[in-house]
Amino acid sequence: MSECRFNRRDLLKSACALAALNCLPVRMVELAFADQGENFTFAHISDAHIQHIKGTKFVHNWDRGLIRAVAETNLLTPAPDFVVFGGDLAQLGKKSELDHGAELLSKLNYKVYPVMGEHDYYLDLGEYWSELFGPHYYSWDHKGVHFVVLNSILTYDKWTYERWPSDEQRMLEMAGLDNPNGSPFMVGEKQRQWLRDDLKKVKKNTPIVVFSHSPIQKIYKGWNFWTEDAEEVQALLRPFDNATVIYGHVHQIQYNQVDNITFHAVMATAWPWPYPQSYAQAESSLGKLTVPMNRADPFFERDATGWQVIPMGSGKVSMKYNLYNNTSRIVAFNKRTGKPEDSAYQDPSRRIPPQTHY
Ligand SMILES: [Fe+2]
Ligand SMILES: [Fe+2]
Repeated sequence: MSECRFNRRDLLKSACALAALNCLPVRMVELAFADQGENFTFAHISDAHIQHIKGTKFVHNWDRGLIRAVAETNLLTPAPDFVVFGGDLAQLGKKSELDHGAELLSKLNYKVYPVMGEHDYYLDLGEYWSELFGPHYYSWDHKGVHFVVLNSILTYDKWTYERWPSDEQRMLEMAGLDNPNGSPFMVGEKQRQWLRDDLKKVKKNTPIVVFSHSPIQKIYKGWNFWTEDAEEVQALLRPFDNATVIYGHVHQIQYNQVDNITFHAVMATAWPWPYPQSYAQAESSLGKLTVPMNRADPFFERDATGWQVIPMGSGKVSMKYNLYNNTSRIVAFNKRTGKPEDSAYQDPSRRIPPQTHY
């Protein structure tokens, strides 16, 4: 288990903060569950992409997204048990970006479990990130649930160590969304062996929640919404009654059910990606998105950015997406259909028609 450097800090109890508390749209959704594990909540913030310009200047818009997510998470009542940060804290892996991001995250009043993103990693292969946050993969138990953090953004050694003339070039190549010079992400054999050993200690009816940065499913290779060894990692989760994978990286709401494994993506605090033009490539792969979904308004720059409050009961998560415009959406597991569903948009008559991008 990782020990992070974040300590509990008192929230500045200014009149302003107290006033904000009264009108906050964020409410905890308490769901009653009967059997496995205790009911509790945690929060999830992801993809801040803190970007250094020069000197003390950072891209303001990305800063604001993370600052607001942290401030509102601190005001949640009841308080979440912990917070997960889902990766891509930095934009280009620079010390200045990681330092500034860590400083903003340190304002959280809760323990933070960090996940590695490719934007944090490919400049120095995670060295400075480790100094700030600790191990790249780890696990812990909390109120009857086994939680695992994986570093899913590794790739082939040849690409990492031999292909690029400089560390900066390697970082830029992996940072591009649709860059054909990028390389598919993977968890890798060493980490899969660690996971195999880690899960040996866990009873098959214990709920498992895995946090990764890239999806542990193959959604769209063209944009690296993809993990090369997804099937092998899924196989390690398959013996368990109840497994959930929560991932960042895609900057959009996605949910899926593959056998016993429920998948949820989280929103970014920095910017939203549109849905890839075609998921057709996934037809022959394991992780085809089987549940229709849509984004509300791709022309609103903050549409589909936000952060998450995640009530957990019976080993299942309910994703409460707190959108930037103070509304929220809930995607929760439907026991009747056996898959996650969006309470606002799953009904075909309520879906917003697909938009064309120019
Ligand atoms: Fe990202
Ligand atoms: Fe990413």
